[in-house]
Amino acid sequence: MRRSSDLSPEIAEESAWWLDAVFYQVYVRSFADSNGDGVGDLDGIRSRLGYLELLGVDALWLTPFYRSPMADHGYDVSDPRDVDPLFGDLAAFDRLVADAHEHNIRVTVDLVPNHTSNQHIWFQQALASPPGSPERARYIFREGRGYDGSQPPNNWPSIFGGPAWTRVADGQWYLHLFAPQQPDLNWEHPEVRQDLEQTLRFWLDRGVDGFRIDVAHGMAKPDGLPDMELHPGSSSAVLVDDADDPRFDNEGVHDIHRMIRKVMDGYPGTMAVGEIWVKDDQRFAQYVRPDELHLGFNFRLVEASYDADSIRSAIEHSLGAVAGIAPATWTLSNHDVVRHVTRYGDGAAGVQRARAMALVELALPGVIYLYNGEELGLPNVELPDWALQDPTWERSGRTERGRDGCRVPIPWEGGTPPFGFSTTANTWLPQPNEWGGFTAEAQLEDPGSMLSLYREALEHRKTNPAFAGDELEWYGAPPGCFAFRRKGGGLICALNTSGASVPLPPGQVLLSSGPMDGDQLPPDTAVWLV
Ligand code: NOJ
Repeated sequence: MRRSSDLSPEIAEESAWWLDAVFYQVYVRSFADSNGDGVGDLDGIRSRLGYLELLGVDALWLTPFYRSPMADHGYDVSDPRDVDPLFGDLAAFDRLVADAHEHNIRVTVDLVPNHTSNQHIWFQQALASPPGSPERARYIFREGRGYDGSQPPNNWPSIFGGPAWTRVADGQWYLHLFAPQQPDLNWEHPEVRQDLEQTLRFWLDRGVDGFRIDVAHGMAKPDGLPDMELHPGSSSAVLVDDADDPRFDNEGVHDIHRMIRKVMDGYPGTMAVGEIWVKDDQRFAQYVRPDELHLGFNFRLVEASYDADSIRSAIEHSLGAVAGIAPATWTLSNHDVVRHVTRYGDGAAGVQRARAMALVELALPGVIYLYNGEELGLPNVELPDWALQDPTWERSGRTERGRDGCRVPIPWEGGTPPFGFSTTANTWLPQPNEWGGFTAEAQLEDPGSMLSLYREALEHRKTNPAFAGDELEWYGAPPGCFAFRRKGGGLICALNTSGASVPLPPGQVLLSSGPMDGDQLPPDTAVWLV
């Protein structure tokens, strides 16, 4: 039975609450540590709900907290229906959901259906069973190529570097698109489907409001597992969206999403968003057909360089792909990519541009996904070699540093590590000593801080009728600039990525990302007008 919700009645009633929601991604390891082991946990998140309410978010996305040997920090799941002791237990999870709902914040959780951990009971059974056995059939085991089978069954690289196949003692090979500790499941096996259905119901019955689906364009594999065309970057990019890549976006994946949707339709008011690294607009749109996922993660803003034309094109494609089918989703950063302050140039310029882009993103119709720490303006961290933990580092022969730099624990208060994140300074990734100025405490009362900008912008987004409507109208603008208007409510957003101040479109300034230059919009600044 689904637990009754602690959300306030007006909020609980809204079944399509996610249509324009602001989600906040909690990278659980790095958000808040309640037990002093240097790793964030569920009770830690619960202790910071007041902050999240103050920030003004509608829902959380929690990265995997399930039982896991942590070869990929939780994306290698050994039991998807239990909490890893590192993060707490099921009682801690129930407390978190209840308290989040008390704060009118919904809770969505990550699902990892493409693969399991190699410590999952199924994989252990597969290893203990002979080739051709039913135990092996839940994964993708094949004979190797070459006269003695010593070559992998095909030429696919793993996303984390090296081949996507590992050989076991009896000579067969198994497929892992990610690390060898993450064997890919065989989605043609009925038990694999049944198991995901059970996992969906398990968390829905505990009161979750939705799911983020990991590698939602993976799972289904092409018949015969054909070789792929290899080109520079195909083995080392963590996430790719190449239309000719046979590893992803295979037709069979849609049937899996229809199964997921069917289950979710039995739980009104819940939603699922897929991680879909698919660039082609039409193919992307297929994932959000009415009987598939409610939302698709869109990475176009993440991939756009900081210039008005690229950003405008990202916005137009994102809206165009899903027009009339689903709301668009917007993401500037997540736990897999370099934080956007750093992408935009780091230092003062990076911060200024990140402020401008926050206003661009928050002016757009649809669903926002914020990544923990972006509201504090955190940059990526250059970690020393000894601290690196992402499997990419070792798998790439120490040529790719991986994703640890965007996963450093959040600084909450005080002037020295662990900045209130934990009681130990021995945090799972070290925090830079100079992060005192980035703490939530330092920014909360400072009207010029990144945190204050996010709070103010989120407040307007939630309460101001100027944000109504799904469509945009674009104005003519000087080179390096753009301006759009929300057709329904009339909000205007202008961005200047050029080197000189430009005239403003007509209207009253509601909020700007930095000081205005008289009645002109200065470089690296965005403004909202009504
Ligand atoms: C995508 C996740 O976001 C990433 O962190 C993870 O490593 C891979 N999927 C594999 O599960």
